[in-house]
Amino acid sequence: MIITIASFKGGVGKSTTAIHLAQYLGTRRGSGLVVLADGDPNHSALSWGNRSQSAQFKIVDSNDDLGEPDHLVIDTPARTEPEKLLPLIEGSDLLILPTNISPFSLEATIETLVNLPKLPRKSYRVLLTMIPSRGESREKQAREALQAVDIPVFKSRIQSRIVYADAELEGRSVDQMRGVSAKSAWDDYKKLGQEIIKEWH
Ligand SMILES: Nc1ncnc2c1ncn2[C@@H]1O[C@H](COP(=O)(O)OP(=O)(O)O)[C@@H](O)[C@H]1O
Ligand SMILES: [Mg+2]
Repeated sequence: MIITIASFKGGVGKSTTAIHLAQYLGTRRGSGLVVLADGDPNHSALSWGNRSQSAQFKIVDSNDDLGEPDHLVIDTPARTEPEKLLPLIEGSDLLILPTNISPFSLEATIETLVNLPKLPRKSYRVLLTMIPSRGESREKQAREALQAVDIPVFKSRIQSRIVYADAELEGRSVDQMRGVSAKSAWDDYKKLGQEIIKEWH
């Protein structure tokens, strides 16, 4: 399956999500070849890949030969122009829009989506990321705001954890890190992966 990750704002966890989703898919039994195509000129995923010893997937520049992967995860540039969203959707089975729950971020996502022609419901889904500890009531408000305008959201959600920055530095994904926080972080992405496999695969 082809999964594209995009957002209308930078720094919302796209590359982190691309890496961890690719890692989840790559560690599944019989998963076949998983490729992460880095479409960001900043090449965050590629440079992480150069440091990584433990990635269970291949990382390539999206302009290079992608081979014939069983699963393709596409990471995109810092921010996507709204008019580019439809072509991205048409080129994938699923478009993930990571969004943090700060009002600015959420507004950017909602504003942009409600001003686009209505997208097929199964073609995309918002992923709430970097949810702070004790952020439950804000998360609930965020879900209600999205639901009110009929924007689909993953049940799974990604909590904010320092371990992502540590893992990034070491060229690891959080499943390769020690400690309780790393385990919880990996659980978040495992749940996301399971939700996707259950509904799209
Ligand atoms: N769930 C999270 N909790 C804490 N920090 C995170 C989380 N996800 C990503 N980060 C950190 O936030 C920064 C931006 O994330 P990144 O994935 O590069 O965003 P984007 O690709 O959308 O620009 C990175 O330094 C990353 O380590
Ligand atoms: Mg990025």
